[in-house]
Amino acid sequence: GFDVSKLLKQTGAVTFDPGFMNTAATASAITYIDGDAGVLRYRGYPIEQLAEHSSFLEVSYLLIYGNLPTPTELENFDSKIRRHTLLHEELKGFFNGFPRDAHPMPVLSSAVSALSTFYQDSLDPFDDEQVELSTIRLMAKLPVIAAYAHKKSIGQALLYPDNSMNLVENFLRLSFGLAAEPYELDPTVVKALDLLLILHADHEQNCSTSTVRLVGSSNANMFASISAGINALFGPLHGGANEAVLNMLRQIQATGQTPEQFMEKVKNKEEGVRLMGFGHRVYKNYDPRARLVKYTAHEILGKLGGNDELLDIALRLEEKALADDYFIERKLYPNVDFYTGLIYKAMGFPEKMFTVLFAIGRLPGWIAQWREMIKDPQTKIGRPRQLYVGEHERNYPVR
Ligand code: ACO
Repeated sequence: GFDVSKLLKQTGAVTFDPGFMNTAATASAITYIDGDAGVLRYRGYPIEQLAEHSSFLEVSYLLIYGNLPTPTELENFDSKIRRHTLLHEELKGFFNGFPRDAHPMPVLSSAVSALSTFYQDSLDPFDDEQVELSTIRLMAKLPVIAAYAHKKSIGQALLYPDNSMNLVENFLRLSFGLAAEPYELDPTVVKALDLLLILHADHEQNCSTSTVRLVGSSNANMFASISAGINALFGPLHGGANEAVLNMLRQIQATGQTPEQFMEKVKNKEEGVRLMGFGHRVYKNYDPRARLVKYTAHEILGKLGGNDELLDIALRLEEKALADDYFIERKLYPNVDFYTGLIYKAMGFPEKMFTVLFAIGRLPGWIAQWREMIKDPQTKIGRPRQLYVGEHERNYPVR
């Protein structure tokens, strides 16, 4: 209920752009998106090609260092990460301080924030060697912290990382392995998880990445900045969407609604119901990641025997939405999260872990963007302006 143009006149020359719909906060050479055409490229490489030929480790290297690694560079990167997987024993005590039913996202962000207290020798944002050390530490330790948050929530013992395994394999073993038994990796699960992590690895200036850059613009260290990004990702409109999709599918199943009845509710905006996993600030076309995920969902649910009824509901919702004027007019298409929850569930992850998996995938993107921000001579501390709509000056009532 206020007149923006009048306020702009009072405030002077500022841009009023809530949600930064049309404000570029930085120049960046990392990720290219053409939302109208449904194109996504990391450092120039189309996501489809990376999904087919690359690995999460290689994509992480590509995002962070700018080019694909040579075989030796990749091996060095891999072995450095394997050498840094151990968590300080005292940091492990941290996990006992949270309630057992805590959501693992705030546990993850707290533990990542606490890395600044345990690894004080790599906090200087302007020392290249320290930045490199923080990079490796985060890549190595965040998946371990994530797996421990999961283990704690189900009351199982924490395992030590097995450094004969790579990052993705280790994460699966630490999440599902039991101390007394050898853990056998399922190649289908390893491959599918690796793919999903690639697809989440970067997405230019999304909410969590912008948060990482904004916090980092005050010269806060990488652990602190990325911990803030994890908290941004926790919100249901961002990283929490895949969890919300699964809840939505379950609810449709439980209440015996048809997808058509549910769609009517969405279109009438009843109780603010949205079709979760649909729509995107940038993609006004089919999200290229959703296409790749949809294929994997069929493959993995076929092999692992997931809940096919939920997949059927999802497929029918998608089919209805793509043919419906409400969605066509608003250019609402499935985003990456529409099918990922079903896959994670089939792999054995509880819903609360879905956003954590997103965070593991997004980590190399956050690191790459933080490093680009710190090196960019144009970086200034982030400090948006505002339009003041509060009280005029008034006198304190002296009684
Ligand atoms: N279901 C129904 N209607 C929708 C949906 C949806 N999922 N998304 C947008 N709309 C409608 C809005 O109601 C609005 O309609 P109106 O013009 O009649 O008011 C119009 O489409 C535009 O929507 P906005 O909210 O303005 O679009 P915005 O770009 O701000 O939001 C967002 C993007 C947050 C992703 C939104 O589409 C949404 O809430 N989707 C569901 C949650 C989700 O899937 N989030 C995951 C994002 S992707 C990620 O983080 C990996």
